[in-house]
Amino acid sequence: MTTLRAVPVGCGHYLPDRIVPNSEFEKTLDTSDEWIRARTGIERRHFAADDQKTSDLAIAAAKAALLDAGLDGSDIDAIVLATATPDQTFPSTATRVQHAIGAGGFAFDMQAVCAGFIYALANADALIKAGQAKRVMVIGAETFSRILDYTDRGTCVLFGDGAGALILEAREGDGSSDDAGILSTDLHSDGKFNDLLYVDGGVSTTGTVGQLRMQGREVFKHAVTKLSAAGNTAMEKAGVAPDDVTYVVPHQANLRIITAVAQKMSLPIERIVVTVQDHGNTSAASIPLAMSVARADGRIKANDLILMEAIGGGLAWGAALMRW
Ligand code: UT7
Repeated sequence: MTTLRAVPVGCGHYLPDRIVPNSEFEKTLDTSDEWIRARTGIERRHFAADDQKTSDLAIAAAKAALLDAGLDGSDIDAIVLATATPDQTFPSTATRVQHAIGAGGFAFDMQAVCAGFIYALANADALIKAGQAKRVMVIGAETFSRILDYTDRGTCVLFGDGAGALILEAREGDGSSDDAGILSTDLHSDGKFNDLLYVDGGVSTTGTVGQLRMQGREVFKHAVTKLSAAGNTAMEKAGVAPDDVTYVVPHQANLRIITAVAQKMSLPIERIVVTVQDHGNTSAASIPLAMSVARADGRIKANDLILMEAIGGGLAWGAALMRW
């Protein structure tokens, strides 16, 4: 039986020029490069310039993805942009990207923090399957450097800025797990965990942007169990086994989480794409950034089966399985 699939046709990323090594934080905080590397795997991250907005990062990633796909902006008929750090409270950052690349159709933002890209993928997949759009650009873009408390060593050393974009196109498949495209998604959230990871400001509360607050150890515990469960469910839904997965592209929050989840899913570390050392945690941008890096260096090739998983504030989490 034929079925519509959302098939990847190109991806790209953008990282701001400014690289901030761990040692920068030693100047102002009781921390060390050694602690940050050992506890997180992070060595450096990129921070946006003062005049760079989330949309600037997103637009650069979008243009790189169009180039990779050999498409023009006018070929895109929907943009789903995942971000927790938009340019403005409204309108969406996605509409800025739409205007900048000359896309038609419609564009909107998604808010699921670090799980945002997985949520955006699931939405793009649904739009394509429902016949609402033929080519969807899915973007994760963040400037988390703007919401960090630089006196809190437990959070400010973890995050970075960046953007990644993936273009999905509607194509016919035969409905089997051999099809190219998104094969399954698995989404979850549980609002009772709000206080584990949140920003202490907002439009209807303080009227300010606020700063990121996290109970890191608690989030860590949830991450390992929830990510491996979602990853396993995504594989079950698609009827594939861990051995079939070519690469896992996980949310890049902490190398210890990434390796623990891989272990729980019986996936060897060689098959995990890891960029956390260079990017830090870029929230919704981390998966498309890592995927674009692994595509550009030749690791991810046509027909490869890619498992993605992410968790963050909400808590919101999920996984997606896609064949290139
Ligand atoms: O993207 C959204 C999802 N987010 C995540 O997945 C993050 C999940 N959490 C984590 O990655 C880790 O929990 C952290 C990296 C945030 C913290 O690592 P940890 O091994 O869980 O450390 P901890 O919070 O249990 O703290 C251990 C110690 C504490 O000191 P005491 O109380 O034992 O004296 C902290 O104060 O490490 C201390 N500490 C630091 N020391 C040096 C916390 N941050 C730092 C730091 N430098 N930057």
